[in-house]
Amino acid sequence: MTDASALETELELAAIVAVADNGVIGRDGEMPWHLPEDLQHFKETTMDHPVIMGRVTYEGILEAIGEPLPGRTTVVLTSRELETPENAVVARSLEEALRKAETAAENRHGGVDTAFVAGGATVYEGFLPALDRLVVTEVDRDPAGDTEFPDWDRDAWTEVDRDERDGFAFVEYVREA
Ligand SMILES: NC(=O)c1ccc[n+]([C@@H]2O[C@H](COP(=O)([O-])OP(=O)(O)OC[C@H]3O[C@@H](n4cnc5c(N)ncnc54)[C@H](OP(=O)(O)O)[C@@H]3O)[C@@H](O)[C@H]2O)c1
Repeated sequence: MTDASALETELELAAIVAVADNGVIGRDGEMPWHLPEDLQHFKETTMDHPVIMGRVTYEGILEAIGEPLPGRTTVVLTSRELETPENAVVARSLEEALRKAETAAENRHGGVDTAFVAGGATVYEGFLPALDRLVVTEVDRDPAGDTEFPDWDRDAWTEVDRDERDGFAFVEYVREA
């Protein structure tokens, strides 16, 4: 587990994830469901903010829409040499990803207060001790999958918002003070 003190930042750090009842978040590099409302929710929530993600998730987005998320700065965690367009930057460590998110928040997004952590599994796990907020789409399904959200101590988090929809819910948790 990551030492939270190594990941200190002035930014609010919020994970955004869609997770099934059985903890699954991905299968074969994709999400195991198609929920347009959730994609819209992700877009509205993250728009004009830095979004940190692992290389596999980044490549899944490139495959799906042909470019990094428009209107946001994607910070891609990878050990590989990656050519990125202007609205995406590469980071070699969680700490470097945070520093790049801070720079983007200040210089490109008008001083926004929040950076989003958008997966996948190891990236959520690495940032978990430093997260302030969880923006979770709870999907009422038990799909087969190969990627799961890491275990998190629910006693350490308080549910502050729940918006029930048909087959899923938009839920927010904040870390207990
Ligand atoms: N349901 C959801 O909300 C949600 C959200 C995100 C993703 N997903 C799903 O999750 C799956 C992908 O997740 P994943 O866990 O397999 O992959 P991932 O986290 O997207 O990417 C893993 C890669 O990120 C890089 N990486 C991770 N931590 C790093 C670190 N500390 N320093 C440097 N590089 C680091 C490495 O890239 P290199 O190998 O290049 O070094 C690693 O192989 C897909 O199925 C996707 O659809 C679902």
